[in-house]
Amino acid sequence: MEGLVCVDDFEKEALRKLGNVTRAYYRSGADDEFTLKDNGAAFSRILLRPFMLRDVSNRDLSTTVLGKKVAVPIGISPTAMQRLAHPDGECGSAKAIETIGGIMVLSYFATCSCEEVAAAAPNARKWFNFYMHKDRTITQGVFKRAEKAGFEAVVLTVDAPVIGKRRDIERNPFDFPPHIKLPNACPDEEELSVSKAHDDIDHGATWEAVSWIKSVSRLPLVLKGIQTAEDAIHAVELGVDGIWISNHGGRQIDTAPATVIS
Ligand SMILES: Cc1cc2nc3c(=O)[nH]c(=O)nc-3n(C[C@H](O)[C@H](O)[C@H](O)COP(=O)(O)O)c2cc1C
Repeated sequence: MEGLVCVDDFEKEALRKLGNVTRAYYRSGADDEFTLKDNGAAFSRILLRPFMLRDVSNRDLSTTVLGKKVAVPIGISPTAMQRLAHPDGECGSAKAIETIGGIMVLSYFATCSCEEVAAAAPNARKWFNFYMHKDRTITQGVFKRAEKAGFEAVVLTVDAPVIGKRRDIERNPFDFPPHIKLPNACPDEEELSVSKAHDDIDHGATWEAVSWIKSVSRLPLVLKGIQTAEDAIHAVELGVDGIWISNHGGRQIDTAPATVIS
């Protein structure tokens, strides 16, 4: 870790250290990766006009998200299978965000269970990411489990009803190493395969599913992957509590606009 001082440094070091298959899984975007590249480029197009001679002896980045305070407006996005990179997996990420007072969003395809993450970072604000299961009683069970473990909101990923075509992964086919489990999405599976993990997702889910979630879950609902004003309005009309503008890191629909538009 010595000498790593910014996100770019960590990315370069990770790309150097990770094996081909894990690197391809973490790094790749969909198709030509136009959106993946533009996500980064769009950030660099945003410039700030700094004002001088203001009193900055007390600096405070705190704000509120879903009506509750966060010390910094930063969260950890749900990213699957973190134990591929480090044995601490998502528990390590949760502890890190706990120390700075942001929000941990645990992936449905996490390699640590929501209970393990809750125990590792009891004071972190925690949201639970999920995908619609073909069997809705299982999805309903997910809400109960998340709530019991102290997760305060659920985040439905809406931009991945089918998985994007990622060429690097096709070149370096991925399957689960035996030590990797998915205790939130597939709690009962001893043997996992990528297709098995994705087979349970309801590829036919529509806005009707959103109304259903609102009718069965007490937790605030955030939709992750909204990219148009039309969809945002629809979500608000159905009583959704939060809209997460995202293109899934350019991993789903290539040529979608960058998440941050300047
Ligand atoms: C390796 C990897 C795994 C990811 N896994 C998930 C996931 O399980 N669920 C999810 O909603 N998003 C997942 N994402 C997408 C991220 O949560 C996030 O949306 C993206 O990295 C940042 O792009 P955005 O600014 O467009 O949101 C994953 C991204 C990466 C790079």
